[in-house]
Amino acid sequence: MSKRYTLTAALPYTNGPIHIGHLAGVYVPADIYARYLRLRGKEVLFICGSDEHGVAISMKAKKEGITPQEVIDTYHHLIKDSFEAFGISFDYYGRTSSEVHRETAQEFFKQLHENDCFETQTTNQLYDAKEDQFLADRYVVGTCPKCQHNEAYGDQCEACGSSLNATDLIEPKSALSGETPSMKETTHWYLPLDRYEAFLRTWILEGHKDDWKTNVLGQVKSWLDDGLKPRAVTRDLSWGIPVPVPGGENKVLYVWFDAPIGYISATKEWATKTGNDWKPYWQDNDTELVHFIGKDNIVFHCIIFPAILKAMGSYILPKNVPANEFLNLEGQKLSTSKNWAVWLHEYLEEFPNKQDVLRYVLTANAPETKDNDFTWADFQTRNNSELVAIFGNFVNRVMVLMRKYYDSEVPTPNTNSKEDSEILKALSEAPKRISDLLESYKFRAASQEMMQLARMGNKYLADEEPWKLIKTNPERVATIMYTAIQLVAGLAIVSEPFLPHTAEKLRKMLKLDPTTGWENVNKLPLILAKHSLGEASLLFEKIEDGAIETQQAKLIP
Ligand code: 2FM
Ligand code: ZN
Repeated sequence: MSKRYTLTAALPYTNGPIHIGHLAGVYVPADIYARYLRLRGKEVLFICGSDEHGVAISMKAKKEGITPQEVIDTYHHLIKDSFEAFGISFDYYGRTSSEVHRETAQEFFKQLHENDCFETQTTNQLYDAKEDQFLADRYVVGTCPKCQHNEAYGDQCEACGSSLNATDLIEPKSALSGETPSMKETTHWYLPLDRYEAFLRTWILEGHKDDWKTNVLGQVKSWLDDGLKPRAVTRDLSWGIPVPVPGGENKVLYVWFDAPIGYISATKEWATKTGNDWKPYWQDNDTELVHFIGKDNIVFHCIIFPAILKAMGSYILPKNVPANEFLNLEGQKLSTSKNWAVWLHEYLEEFPNKQDVLRYVLTANAPETKDNDFTWADFQTRNNSELVAIFGNFVNRVMVLMRKYYDSEVPTPNTNSKEDSEILKALSEAPKRISDLLESYKFRAASQEMMQLARMGNKYLADEEPWKLIKTNPERVATIMYTAIQLVAGLAIVSEPFLPHTAEKLRKMLKLDPTTGWENVNKLPLILAKHSLGEASLLFEKIEDGAIETQQAKLIP
């Protein structure tokens, strides 16, 4: 394993709150991975922050009659608080409006400019004369030339996923005034991606053909097979980072040029705050860099940003980019503009203290290899039939019997039966099985291995029936309960990446030695005889039909 890990999670745009799709696709898997590595004693830096430039933000400000600064301030705090509430354990959460970020992004641009890594092109671009504004990215809508969807944006068609130039759109209209744009000449800096084609092909399609996800490899291959073209990295806008070279007046960096550099500037800010050096996290070959993103960000993290890092010379490249597919909601695409979403800040109000439930449901049903659907009915079933009936029930039965028979002091076991040995063997083998899955980014399957341990515990109790044996064979019951409490302790450890709030509660209930970690599960016992257990409390509670019906009703348009 590597010396250190730099994990990044896509910087969310601060033009609105975040929803379950963001959590399922990016932040929960990234957090599971970060927590897992920390549990294994690895040096991890988990970085994220707000993406505060780009047209989406200035459009929102214009629509609401407020400044872009007011928009980003509102959503930066709302989003940051939601992440904290869900236990997303970033080491640092930055923002791209910071001074350090402006300096860092400008240094990147200046160095690439000095090293002749850009080309300039003077072309005719769409222009809204009424608003005196060039129309790029989301400032222009029209028909997609690839799939004929009539609400495609100037940078991307959300229906077919194609990446577009504003001038590709059929019948373009200004999103500001609704007018048909005219053409006006302008000069921009371009990153000649064609120069990196051979390097990208060798590095990704050959070098990572066995360890990157097939959905990611597929998209990269299709981009490379289509032939890479120079890509503009500046815009004629006022909201953004000023272009720091002569001729750059009234122009800003393209948001997708500065945003990924935000991972680096956030690392610098973290380093200053904690008295560390930022460089090893981005420049040491012993660092494993992993970008967690959604599938719409693949091109930026696998092609454009690596080309920038390569051109800069001294930076490492990502070891993996485990992009997820999309999550749908009740059979329809999640949509901020159509308000078809479950917003995290609203969920937290309606289901306080149920953060782990949502984390679990989104992991058990994660869109890892294909788009998946979130339904409230499935949410209820996963809670009631898995978290309550399997995980919570097992833990609760063990804790209640421990108090009833032994006044919460772990009994001394006698000779193990074949059944006890099988349980202990399965428990000691679980960390390896879960590790292997997590290290290959199979978080769904890993969460099911964890649940399987609790399922096994329930079956063990049902088969052994300690409540019947207690009168006739108390020696045997001592062994059963000793074995069962090992399984509960194992769950407290291996569930931590998935259910951090629950794991913490469970550790307290068990009064588990805080140094007991992942590796200890291989070397049982986790809890010794005579150890005194703490107070038990319920880990999960049933969700009634009424609560689910309320959520379903909220979705009716
Ligand atoms: O798609 C998005 O929401 C972007 N704001 C992600 C940026 S990721 C990174 F590169 F900053
Ligand atoms: Zn399209």
